[in-house]
Amino acid sequence: MREIPLAFEPLKTAVDHLLAAGGKRIRPVLVLLTGRLYRPTDEALINLAAAVEMLHTATLVHDDLIDGSLLRRGVPTLNAIWTPAATVLTGDYLFAYAASLAARTENVRVMAIFARTLMTICQGELHQQFGNRATMLNREDYLRRIYAKTAAMFELATEAAAVLAQAPEPQVQALRQYGVDLGIAFQIMDDILDFTGDARVLGKPVGNDLRQGLATLPVLLYLEEHPDDPLIPRILAGSSGDEALIEEAVRRIRNSEAIPRAIAEAEVLVRRGQAQLQSLPDGPAREALRWIGEQILRRDR
Ligand code: IPE
Ligand code: IPE
Ligand code: MG
Ligand code: MG
Repeated sequence: MREIPLAFEPLKTAVDHLLAAGGKRIRPVLVLLTGRLYRPTDEALINLAAAVEMLHTATLVHDDLIDGSLLRRGVPTLNAIWTPAATVLTGDYLFAYAASLAARTENVRVMAIFARTLMTICQGELHQQFGNRATMLNREDYLRRIYAKTAAMFELATEAAAVLAQAPEPQVQALRQYGVDLGIAFQIMDDILDFTGDARVLGKPVGNDLRQGLATLPVLLYLEEHPDDPLIPRILAGSSGDEALIEEAVRRIRNSEAIPRAIAEAEVLVRRGQAQLQSLPDGPAREALRWIGEQILRRDR
């Protein structure tokens, strides 16, 4: 296998900067735990785990550029330091890097899942870019959006790892569904943390979704309870770039019933995901997968 060339110094520095900042690494953990249900960790599983985390990092590089976000994992984003062109190209490089790591598994089905996931993520982002207000306020549309941008990668982690570990097909499907359910719950919690979180703990800005006119579950639930509050629709329509008004809207949503209701929805999904684990081999790996679900509900970063 040819070594991956990272000879261009600024690129190497940028990639080091991104990876050294860490992150929770929940997706590679899902890969490794899924593999451990069936066999000791081997090189193929490690390559898959690295591929999934690299894919995730690549999407963050592009996401922060698209969102105009300046902080990630507690350090400045690439787009905060570099031009958009250099940032896009570095993201592209990381996508290719991720694919080359996935190719090391020498498993065509894994590669196919990998490619399909990236197509889903790109389409989801485009869908969000072109979204109009009517679809934006629709719950099915919200779920489709967060499946595409987040849950598809959780699905990739668990499904591809199960395939690689040669799990029986019904168990591949159970793990796939577990990945989807936890991924959707994970993004719901992320959308809640955008209202309730502490930027210093999260390592990324808060309040950004509303600022960008993005209606997430807390917003949808708040509007259900307060259909006559004119502030939120005004901000979503983009007619207010007024920072004081956005902060007031964030405060109203943060202090409303929308937050506990959104958490309750995430919990339903986590429980459904955990129920999928019943058909899998009993042991510490299965217990750890169950525990990941609890962590998703409890996380503050
Ligand atoms: C951030 O993912 C993007 C979302 C899908 C919400 P993480 O919260 O897993 O980010 P890191 O990898 O821990 O920084
Ligand atoms: C990001 O969603 C999902 C990706 C595909 C990267 P968000 O835009 O909510 O993620 P954060 O909040 O910036 O981490
Ligand atoms: Mg973002
Ligand atoms: Mg977010």
